[in-house]
Amino acid sequence: MALPLSDVEALKRQAALHAAERIRDGLVIGLGTGTTVAHFLGILGERLRRGELKDVVGIPTSDRTAASARQHGIPLATLEDEPILDVTVDGADEVDPDLNMIKGMGGALLREKIVACASNHLVIIADERKLVRCLGTRSPLPLEVVPFGWSLHLPFLDSLGAQPVLRTWNHGEAFHTDSGHYILDCHFPQGITEPVKLERALRERVGIIESGLFLGLADEVIVAASEGVRTMKPMRGTA
Ligand code: A5P
Repeated sequence: MALPLSDVEALKRQAALHAAERIRDGLVIGLGTGTTVAHFLGILGERLRRGELKDVVGIPTSDRTAASARQHGIPLATLEDEPILDVTVDGADEVDPDLNMIKGMGGALLREKIVACASNHLVIIADERKLVRCLGTRSPLPLEVVPFGWSLHLPFLDSLGAQPVLRTWNHGEAFHTDSGHYILDCHFPQGITEPVKLERALRERVGIIESGLFLGLADEVIVAASEGVRTMKPMRGTA
């Protein structure tokens, strides 16, 4: 049974509270995008206002996050000013048992991946609905593509088992990312059984700027469930 919306928001806030506890004075923090991160921004702002935290600076992953961070009084910088981030806190659309993820339903996947890759530590915050056995079973996979020639990708994506749909605004016009690209939301009726192979194929395609597959990037996933909050860490280097 689906959780009531108020419960979902309460879970997002719980995950955000746990992530905010990891933030110390002086850190450079990557600020993700989405409704879960919105809670984190509010909590960070409160801590700054109360004087519990100082000298932090945020690198936003979207114009929306930048605007919200400003409203909460979080000082901002760019990647040119601060090329190495101590920690990034971001949300996810799906997380599998290996902590591989799909991101980008909020349309910020390119900047999110750039910021994640520049971070020493990537913390993902999510409510329990985001946990899946197999990627692609709850969410489509968003791809950020150059508008020029975007439709040429459709048969290519079809050959990879995807059913791509151009993301549009409610009024029907194509959605543009902050970097001026289109998004193709790719549905995989059988799920994504080989994410590494798929990511490799997508990388080789000229015009596909980035995929929403975030493989091996998360250092911690904080999951809030009705029974409580737990932190998952990847099993790295144990093969
Ligand atoms: C933004 O582009 C996404 O990657 C978000 O991080 C992801 O969609 C999670 O968003 P919510 O927290 O709103 O579910």
